[in-house]
Amino acid sequence: MGDVTQQAIDYSQRIPNNVDLSNDRALQRALERWQPAFLNWWDETGPSNTSNLQVYLRTAISVDRDGWANFGYVRMPEYRWGIFLTPRDENRKIHFGDHKNEPAWQDVPGEHRSPLRRIIVTQGDTEPASVEQQKQLGATCPSLYDLRNLFQVNVEEGRHLWAMVYLLHRYFGRDGREEAEALLQRRSGDPNNPRILTAFNEKTSHWLAYYMFTFFTDRDGKFQLAALAESAFDPLARTTKFMLTEEAHHMFIGESGVARALQRTCEVMSQHKLTDPSQVRAHGVIDLETLQRFVNFHYSVTLDLFGSEVSSNAGGYYTGGLKGRYTEATIRDDHSLAGDFYGVPEAANGEIVNRQVPALTALNARLRDDYTREIQAGLDRWNRIPEKLGIQFRITVPHIGFHRKIGSFAGHYVSPGGQVLSKDDWERQSAGWLPSDDDHAFVGSLMGRVIEPGKFANWIAPPARGINNLPIEFEYVRFD
Ligand SMILES: [Fe+2]
Ligand SMILES: [Fe+2]
Repeated sequence: MGDVTQQAIDYSQRIPNNVDLSNDRALQRALERWQPAFLNWWDETGPSNTSNLQVYLRTAISVDRDGWANFGYVRMPEYRWGIFLTPRDENRKIHFGDHKNEPAWQDVPGEHRSPLRRIIVTQGDTEPASVEQQKQLGATCPSLYDLRNLFQVNVEEGRHLWAMVYLLHRYFGRDGREEAEALLQRRSGDPNNPRILTAFNEKTSHWLAYYMFTFFTDRDGKFQLAALAESAFDPLARTTKFMLTEEAHHMFIGESGVARALQRTCEVMSQHKLTDPSQVRAHGVIDLETLQRFVNFHYSVTLDLFGSEVSSNAGGYYTGGLKGRYTEATIRDDHSLAGDFYGVPEAANGEIVNRQVPALTALNARLRDDYTREIQAGLDRWNRIPEKLGIQFRITVPHIGFHRKIGSFAGHYVSPGGQVLSKDDWERQSAGWLPSDDDHAFVGSLMGRVIEPGKFANWIAPPARGINNLPIEFEYVRFD
């Protein structure tokens, strides 16, 4: 019975939810006070000039694995943001760390209160940040299909903020409510009150940056959420599990978006037998060298989100049961990591060396390695596109030490190939490895606004299929 009532989402409430909110009046009132502040935030920093558009969006109607989404036209300010957790497993046990085999926590243990709050606030802060970063993109959409996908991501990031705010309000008392207020006050890129993490204060000024962001940076989100989905704090595990189902679509948008740009470029190169980037640009598509520079940038700034490779905090989170490893339950070991070692690369005496450190301190590095494996798999899929069209170029993942600001590589100069350079050498060469102002200006110059159903900007190929099995030329956004 518990399952049935928890999976269905009650849409008769002001705040749609499957957490029985109406039976906790104090919490319900607190969240209903936060709701108008959220809507003001959306109005001020959400996608520009969109309040009258009708967008073909999916809305969660249950948290079942299959068929949780309902599709239909929605005016975005009327999107039903709510609180959805996967159902509770009454028998769930903690499966790693010092508390292994104890029942999962339904409340926050006093000793873990402040690190858990910090974890939730840091995750929560990224959600509105990305909406703010993408505010202006609608004005230069390459198609209605892409415009709809942007808005889908935006409303879901807004819902992810709700997910974290629910935890703060429900489990962290007055501190939690204050943090929930602050989440609506910080602004991406605001020098006086910026978002917490650097990558979320960068500009997303055009659609290439947007696709790179959803491929690289939303995937960091996936790995962080996956580690939290293992948490001993059951409500956090349950809310992040449902967030992961939404995150999958964000990464799809990124991967397919870059793939379509790559496809279009390779088609033009093959058709006109081009290799020279300036000639490729002259045909109004993004040259492969520029795509590579954007990969280098977005990959490296996203790696910084994993934090220091060697971190005693990360070890404490693990032994405490707050944050597990990626797919912790499927790893075959004793889930304590006591006495284990893990290899972490670093720059020392002009070269990259692999240092064995206690595995408990290397959990950030390990999560980052899991992430990089998935990135590499994505690049392998991208590289089938030039391969099929007989083009030699391959997109590559730069070395993990390249262009890093956080962790053991900060302060070192490492080339994309993994050579440790002097500062002078770096300054001579790095312009060719990262997007320049000119690259941004060129990519920006390709961005137009294409809103005729079924039409696409010249720089990007159409997708293989539409949304929800609809044709590509479906009117995904209505302007009346
Ligand atoms: Fe998110
Ligand atoms: Fe996302």
